[in-house]
Amino acid sequence: MYTEEAGINFDPRFEDPEKLKALTRRGFLGRVMGGIAAGTALMTLTGRKATAAPLPADEPAEPNDVGYWNWVADQFVIRDDIAYMNTGTRGPSPGPVHRAQIAALEGINSDYQSYSRYVYNSEFRDNLRNKMANFIGCKSSEVAFTNNTTEGMVFGTFGIDMEPGDEIITTNHDHSGGVQPINLRAARQKTKTVMIDLSDHKFHPPDNPDELVKAFEAAITPRTKLISFCHINYTDGLLLPVKEICEMARARGILTLVDGAQPPGMLKMNMHDLACDMYAGPCHKWMLASMYTGFFYVREDVVDRVWPTVYSGPINGMSMYGQELTGATKDYYEPYLAGAAKFELRGSSNAPARVAINAALDFHNMITPQALEARNRYQAVRLANALRNIDGVTVYSSEDPRMSAALVAFKVDGVATRDLNARLWERNRIYIRNVTHSEINWDANRASMHVMVTDAQTDKLIDAVEEIAKEKRL
Ligand SMILES: Cc1ncc(COP(=O)(O)O)c(C=O)c1O
Repeated sequence: MYTEEAGINFDPRFEDPEKLKALTRRGFLGRVMGGIAAGTALMTLTGRKATAAPLPADEPAEPNDVGYWNWVADQFVIRDDIAYMNTGTRGPSPGPVHRAQIAALEGINSDYQSYSRYVYNSEFRDNLRNKMANFIGCKSSEVAFTNNTTEGMVFGTFGIDMEPGDEIITTNHDHSGGVQPINLRAARQKTKTVMIDLSDHKFHPPDNPDELVKAFEAAITPRTKLISFCHINYTDGLLLPVKEICEMARARGILTLVDGAQPPGMLKMNMHDLACDMYAGPCHKWMLASMYTGFFYVREDVVDRVWPTVYSGPINGMSMYGQELTGATKDYYEPYLAGAAKFELRGSSNAPARVAINAALDFHNMITPQALEARNRYQAVRLANALRNIDGVTVYSSEDPRMSAALVAFKVDGVATRDLNARLWERNRIYIRNVTHSEINWDANRASMHVMVTDAQTDKLIDAVEEIAKEKRL
């Protein structure tokens, strides 16, 4: 523990950097070699026994390097008997992230003054913003921290000026967190929601990404002001051609807002490559930070057109007393007002949650976003291909990597999706979910393939589904 007298002598942001280093390829190999040489049991950060791996030669980790990925999976505090495959809803934090958050809570509650002065200070916050910007591929001035995806979708939907009758395009495979803010604006300010119908089976999956671009293009009218859509649909796991849709929209002077609830932490991200104007994401799903954490990206050249919605900062350079900001107050606010950080001027924030984001970024960066994406895709393809070969199973995920990633949606003929979840849980302690919306004729099970899922657990899911599909046929 740190004390005021002793000065800061431990940094709860990083917990134990030596242990975290073990997650790098080199660190992992060093520990495996050291453990073998010393004849000792290898212990993970959670205190559970880790699996020693054969020694591959190259860095970074290959997606099929079972030993390395078992090692990564062992970092989670998830109970050993549970195969957790629902990161699309909530990503449980690995040990270092879990413990960094607990340490931050302890620091704040035991000595708030010292904690905020020595740890959770402006330097920490600047570093965190830079690290986040680096992780999602944008400038630090283009990103704000929020509490979840929905909040960013609300900021984007309500932030831009519109007249009654102006239109916002979305789809019926988007989430309520993206669509209901659009409907709320329509109810309140008489804008119009234009919903693209993706219920036709030709979209599950489409033959090629162009079909989606055309569907969006066809919905545009002279009144279209905003296109709001998912990077990855939570229903069927479809990866949309974000860049193409956004470039098409920009050429027509239309703003774009992307619901990025699924990809951050699943795929290597680059906001500038995606070419969107705004992107709302969570840190509590695939990024594995604590609950109620998220971010909102706004492109530098549109940020002045997006009003904050929940806001307590200066307005037109004036304090609440109607005076121009000067001195230290001006210095404090200036960096916030220069870019997307203005969306953070809305009362107190949750320091332990931000500390968890920091630790989660470290966790991902140690493994590397490239290796994570390759691993997640590898596991998803392995699962989808195996399920496709089972009689009576329909897989909705595309075989084209341009339209699929690490959410695998499928259905077993004659087995209610909820029943499948229940059987997998009761018999095998495998946790997946279903997404069911009868209004759009959608009902599928969905497995999230993130790094807490081992190869053996994927095999277990495949075998369990095969058994259930066979029982149905008999
Ligand atoms: C596509 C999509 N959008 C929005 C949300 C809501 O996310 P949050 O809880 O971070 O607001 C989810 C949650 O699963 C989602 O899958």
